[in-house]
Amino acid sequence: MAGLIPREFIDDLMQRTDIVDVIDSMVPLQKKGQEYMACCPFHDEKTPSFTVSPQKQFFYCFGCGESGSAIDFLMKYQNLGFIEAIEDLSSRAGLEIPHSATASEFTTSHGHANRLLEIVDKANLWFQEQLKVNPDRKTAISYLRSRGLTARIILEFGIGYAPDSWNGLFNELGKTPTNVESLVTAGLISHKQDVQGRDRHYDRFRGRIMFPIEDSRGRIVGFGARDLTDKGPKYLNSPETPLFHKGRELYGLHRARRAIGKQNRSIVVEGYMDVVSLVQFGIENAVAALGTATTPYHVQRLFRLAPDIVFCFDGDQAGRNAAWKALTTALPEMRDGRQASFLFLDEGEDPDTTVRSTGAEGFLRKVDSALPLTDFLFDSLMANIDLQRMDGRAKLASMAKPLLMNIPGTTLRSIMFDRLSTHCGITVKPDEPDQSSISQNPTAGTKQRHERNIDRQLPLVAQAISLLLQHPDLASNGPNFSALDELQADGLDVLVDLLDACCGDPDVTTARLLERFRDAPYHSYLEHLALRDHHVQDDVLIEHFGEIIRKLLARLRKQRHDELIEKSSQRPLEQHEKEELLSLQQERVHQ
Ligand code: UTP
Ligand code: MN
Repeated sequence: MAGLIPREFIDDLMQRTDIVDVIDSMVPLQKKGQEYMACCPFHDEKTPSFTVSPQKQFFYCFGCGESGSAIDFLMKYQNLGFIEAIEDLSSRAGLEIPHSATASEFTTSHGHANRLLEIVDKANLWFQEQLKVNPDRKTAISYLRSRGLTARIILEFGIGYAPDSWNGLFNELGKTPTNVESLVTAGLISHKQDVQGRDRHYDRFRGRIMFPIEDSRGRIVGFGARDLTDKGPKYLNSPETPLFHKGRELYGLHRARRAIGKQNRSIVVEGYMDVVSLVQFGIENAVAALGTATTPYHVQRLFRLAPDIVFCFDGDQAGRNAAWKALTTALPEMRDGRQASFLFLDEGEDPDTTVRSTGAEGFLRKVDSALPLTDFLFDSLMANIDLQRMDGRAKLASMAKPLLMNIPGTTLRSIMFDRLSTHCGITVKPDEPDQSSISQNPTAGTKQRHERNIDRQLPLVAQAISLLLQHPDLASNGPNFSALDELQADGLDVLVDLLDACCGDPDVTTARLLERFRDAPYHSYLEHLALRDHHVQDDVLIEHFGEIIRKLLARLRKQRHDELIEKSSQRPLEQHEKEELLSLQQERVHQ
């Protein structure tokens, strides 16, 4: 039944629902510390053991063991079915359950997503084929040549061509009503009714070079399309679809992940062509935002892959403005040990033209000398301020302080405040000392406690899942786990799915995470993990979680190592495989 309502809707509903309000309206709750308590409505008791956690959006009874989300509470307390519970919560939240939810077309939201992925994939293949077979392909080929792209890089990025026709793709793929619906939902086909009320469908992308956009798992979810006809906007992206969210994806991220991890740095550029050109010149750690300003999601994603981000912008005023936006977005992610810098290219240049004129080395030199975030912040603020004047210095302090307060890294923040104080000629202090981040620094004592508390009874993957369900914010605090999905281990797909769901979503809760898996056969096991007492103290949680992920990554390296050894017994290894094996063996020696 759950499958009839789109998961996005349920997730949104849960985000707008407060379990405390819902339960309190039926069973009055008393606040006790961080949580709320009452005598359990599910068994007879005199002293309260029924607890509701607003953080986790979860209830639990120590007496009888009943537990769950607001949805579960309604189902159990009012004896409702799942759909009825959703209806109840929707009317409390003033939301309407989407109409399509009841249509038979909507088998499950999961199956639906698969259908979209399939059609986008097919469209991508067709666009690529058009570069080879379409009678008009010459325009496209000669354009790509004029931009200096090699056949190999065109293939590597899956670049294609959408012919300048109203119905090329539609005629190819729109053969069944289901396909047509998928094409429309995936943003590949537009649908209108003409004056007589007849359905008209036409290709969204016409006369364009097609850049397929992959999500972080390498699945094609949308397209960026460059105009060749001078008829429309220079670039057109897929619209927002159930698969494609512009502010979440970064062009080139999937293929760049390894390089970013290896080089410990990502480079963020503005355009598709910039990424493609840089890769052609061997600079593989570059990604691009899809014509949007830098989002927190982008920054979090990249910082999880490597602690160093270089943002690359045009040298003009628009570039400076975009860079400032990126800076304010990056500040709340600046934990100690992370760094961000800004590279401003010469006026009229972009990474594509720059790398073609200076070569890879020239470009990388510029990247190395990019302006550190600290310098860019003070330079920008001080540009229009006269520090000779007292009111100028006061103005600087009042502009800088709220920005610096966003920095979570205590060392970086105090360095920045020192620097502000020097500029202002007086000591400027943060508003209040932040106890929570200080306590994250483990001392020798907590370290011992930490070692003692490692829960050795559960497999590592289950330990990670348990911690993550209870503390979803760990996802953005752990070490780089992007390579993890290649590890073969039980439950790893669940862990990766959870990490994906947590990342970039500061409001995610235990209850919302569990809801994703309501229909899974292992749902009750996950519930058990969500409630399990892991005995890890709050102040060493991040460290402990990091340790588990690192162990899993070590296992992955071992797995890869063994694979290569196995391969080498069957055939001679390729050069890159030899290099990989060698570096894996060296890592093992150093461990
Ligand atoms: P640019 O105009 O700098 O494009 O836009 P570019 O990549 O250098 O284009 P070429 O070199 O002329 O082909 C940078 C990015 O902004 C988005 C695209 O993502 C583009 O790659 N953009 C630009 C749009 O979304 N729409 C537009 O009309 C223009
Ligand atoms: Mn360009």
